[in-house]
Amino acid sequence: MRFFITTPIYYVNADPHVGHAYTTIAADILARFHRQCGDEVFFLTGTDEHGNKVAQAAAELGRTPKEHCDIVSERFRALVGQVNASNDFFIRTTDTEHEAFVQQFVQRLKEAGDIEKRAYGGLYCTACEGFYYERDLVDGKCPIHQIEPVWLEEENYYFLLSRYQDRLAEFFRSHPDWVKPRSRYNEALSFIEQGLEDISISRSSITWGVPVPWDPDQVIYVWVDALINYLSALTYARPGEELMRFWPPQLHVMAKDILKFHAVIWPALLMSAGYDLPDGEFIHGYLLMGGEKMSKTRGNVLDPFAVMKQYGIDALRFYLFREVTFGQDGVISMEGFAQRYNNELANELGNLVSRSASMIGKYRGGVVAQAVGGSDADLVREGAAMVAACRARLDDVEITAALEGIWEFVRRLNRYVEEQAPWKLAKDEAQAAQLDQVLYDLVAGLRLVALCLYPVMPGTAEEILDRLGQPQEASDLLLEKAAWEQAAPAAVRVGPSLFPRIETPE
Ligand code: MSP
Repeated sequence: MRFFITTPIYYVNADPHVGHAYTTIAADILARFHRQCGDEVFFLTGTDEHGNKVAQAAAELGRTPKEHCDIVSERFRALVGQVNASNDFFIRTTDTEHEAFVQQFVQRLKEAGDIEKRAYGGLYCTACEGFYYERDLVDGKCPIHQIEPVWLEEENYYFLLSRYQDRLAEFFRSHPDWVKPRSRYNEALSFIEQGLEDISISRSSITWGVPVPWDPDQVIYVWVDALINYLSALTYARPGEELMRFWPPQLHVMAKDILKFHAVIWPALLMSAGYDLPDGEFIHGYLLMGGEKMSKTRGNVLDPFAVMKQYGIDALRFYLFREVTFGQDGVISMEGFAQRYNNELANELGNLVSRSASMIGKYRGGVVAQAVGGSDADLVREGAAMVAACRARLDDVEITAALEGIWEFVRRLNRYVEEQAPWKLAKDEAQAAQLDQVLYDLVAGLRLVALCLYPVMPGTAEEILDRLGQPQEASDLLLEKAAWEQAAPAAVRVGPSLFPRIETPE
């Protein structure tokens, strides 16, 4: 199977923050998981570089728009590396190939008869780069940025979105899982049912954008330009390779702030231009710190680079998806992080790995043998159930639930150590076979944990497998290999603490 997954392309008006990292990590978790299922994956992310907002930010810093984009886009690219995202391409909307494709795409809209020139006036939020209907404002302000939209009037090219009202509503009704979670699907459908107005898809007042092919005095509206990235990337991401076979994408991932653009405007544009619609969209919630959405527009940001440097990227990846149920809003804090880190990563997982390896070192000279008498049947069954549940949940984009299942099994393995008390078995020569079995089971159980944890904590998973002497090539990470008895008898290695405890000063 093919699995094409995308993140939003991020605006380069300001620096990346942990909210951007969050979406990119989510998409990375799903991309890695699908590779483990044997799927052919294409994972796309990048930066959105045109429009007023970016031109303004550049001007404020005394840079040309392009200079500014080069600098900030590079920071987003660096973030992708630092969060250990396995993206296949990083698109920039200032790539000439993208710009050329955008022109072709809007030409198709025109040929379909869906473009008209009209005078357009509307309430425009510059932070959203979008128009609002009066009815959607809260106290006259943009519901997302709490700033008053300005009246903007221009002669522009319109996309006749209203023509797609019935087709969109029909599409939604026949694809009830197209947008997940359901609350977001309902939101998008009710937006459509309230009636769609035609939208302006060009601007004559700004120059930082892709020229309208038939009227170079206008540039294409930044949102249209941006959405098309999902298609354009496939035309040039890997020169010489036909990537259009990945179209349509299996999943667009984003937060709820840009639902309307992706769930209403994007499918209409695709219908008009004659492309298949994506298979689905997953809309997650906001990471909140101190109860507010962390948004660069409001200047309330947390530097992901500092967080990662201090605690390690896998710990951050783990915390974000363990703490906040994926799909819902949730509060993140340093205190909460330190707690989960110490309790779950240091005590429960890290200790289990070091305990297991050091017992094998102490009692068996560092080498674990295949159990002769057969493994603990309950444990084997529970391990298989954990793998199956993890797989089903990740397939359903339930990342937090998948982690919960893995953690129950980590705790189960800790109890197993306590129950079996290998230190007692080691004192009794008659129990030698039982000790071999317990030690093998710990390696086999931890191997399953590592394989299931791999999408969320790739570095940690590989380190655990390495310490247990288990192979870690891409083909060894396939979930079809996640069976108990496939743990290899091997030499294990005790290493330094995987997660040294955080001592939080009072
Ligand atoms: N450029 C547009 C997207 C175009 S996609 C064709 C844009 N960019 S953005 O930089 O504002 O990114 C918005 C996205 O960043 C959100 O949809 C979400 O994926 C992510 N997030 C930004 N802040 C976030 C939180 N505080 N919490 C969760 N996600 C966050 O919109």
